[in-house]
Amino acid sequence: MAKTISVFNNKGGVGKTSIIWNLAATLSEMDKRVLLIDFDPQCNLSIAAIGSDEFSALLKTSTQHPYGQTVKAFALPYIQQNRIGNIYTVSPKKSTKNGNLHIVPGDFWLNSFSDILNVGTDVIAGSGLYRFILPNLITEESQRKNNIEYDYVLIDLPPSFNTLVRSSLYCSDYFLVPCTPDLFSSYCVGLIGEMLPLFIQDWEQGKARYLHSNPTDALIGSLGKPQFGGWIFNNFDTRRRNGKKNMVAADAVHHEAIKVAVRDELIAELKKITYYSPIPSFADEEQVAGIEDINVMASDSLYQNIPLRYLSNVRPTGALRGRGSWAQNQLDLMDEMSIEYDNLAKHIVTHFGNGLNL
Ligand SMILES: Nc1ncnc2c1ncn2[C@@H]1O[C@H](COP(=O)(O)OP(=O)(O)OP(=O)(O)O)[C@@H](O)[C@H]1O
Ligand SMILES: [Mg+2]
Repeated sequence: MAKTISVFNNKGGVGKTSIIWNLAATLSEMDKRVLLIDFDPQCNLSIAAIGSDEFSALLKTSTQHPYGQTVKAFALPYIQQNRIGNIYTVSPKKSTKNGNLHIVPGDFWLNSFSDILNVGTDVIAGSGLYRFILPNLITEESQRKNNIEYDYVLIDLPPSFNTLVRSSLYCSDYFLVPCTPDLFSSYCVGLIGEMLPLFIQDWEQGKARYLHSNPTDALIGSLGKPQFGGWIFNNFDTRRRNGKKNMVAADAVHHEAIKVAVRDELIAELKKITYYSPIPSFADEEQVAGIEDINVMASDSLYQNIPLRYLSNVRPTGALRGRGSWAQNQLDLMDEMSIEYDNLAKHIVTHFGNGLNL
């Protein structure tokens, strides 16, 4: 069974999309089979992975593709007609090491979809739980269509606590929380500790009602148990002193504040959940990865549709023909951050497991 991971923080711009994109490339480099689901109406992951022109083409509707070739083609028939629609999975534009990295493209229509989903009638009343487990149905249909058992499914989400986020969390085995060095990140960590127990409570109420009339349904009973997989410190600055790199003092203060919030407001609060254990034994307040401020390389990696670990293979955007290349310190940073992504991937493989290892 694939392990499903939501990358999530209701604060915007903390690096959710960039982290998924680079983590996917790293897991793929380790020969893992990875499915990406772009569940964010902003569609940034789709644009980064597929390219903006190619993605625009997938959004277009035609007689052959009445709903386009995105997540909408699967979700809309499901919502409107209660039938499984067409699933479209795409390989990234610049292929990574092996061919087993696929993305289900997002769609701006996800905005409307999130409005259609209703917490009260669908979740709490239990009558529309299946509408809330779309990421799970997408995974199953993608596996069937591609004849692949994925090792990992990574879901990119909007910066909010809306129904798309709930839906993804209900379908996830784990969630990872990227944070940046600022005041709002630690605040948002506290909000996750506040909101997740409510999400779970709603799910449990709906599940009890649903299972009362559908006692043989095994799928619903197996979902709604997301565990905290760790937090990632992203976009912090360092200075070199005596040949050693240190986090700048201001960012270290935020780092400490986030750790405290993770310990006291996230882990401590989630431990109060009694339906299941949301805090696995390996999880604590220490970050599971630290990604430095990589400056123009961050946006260029997205712009050129190339994960950071392969960015040194191409020239920086704007480089003149035959001239202009990455500076040595940029190349060094690319290598160092690729190692950080390797470590993050190892954390996931070791602790989250996958279908083959467990
Ligand atoms: N480590 C980093 N160093 C420098 N810039 C970064 C880093 N990580 C992300 N960025 C930049 O910050 C911006 C936001 O990143 P990204 O889109 O990944 O965040 P997000 O959390 O997915 O945002 P949203 O909440 O809008 O979905 C992008 O322009 C990206 O290039
Ligand atoms: Mg994003």
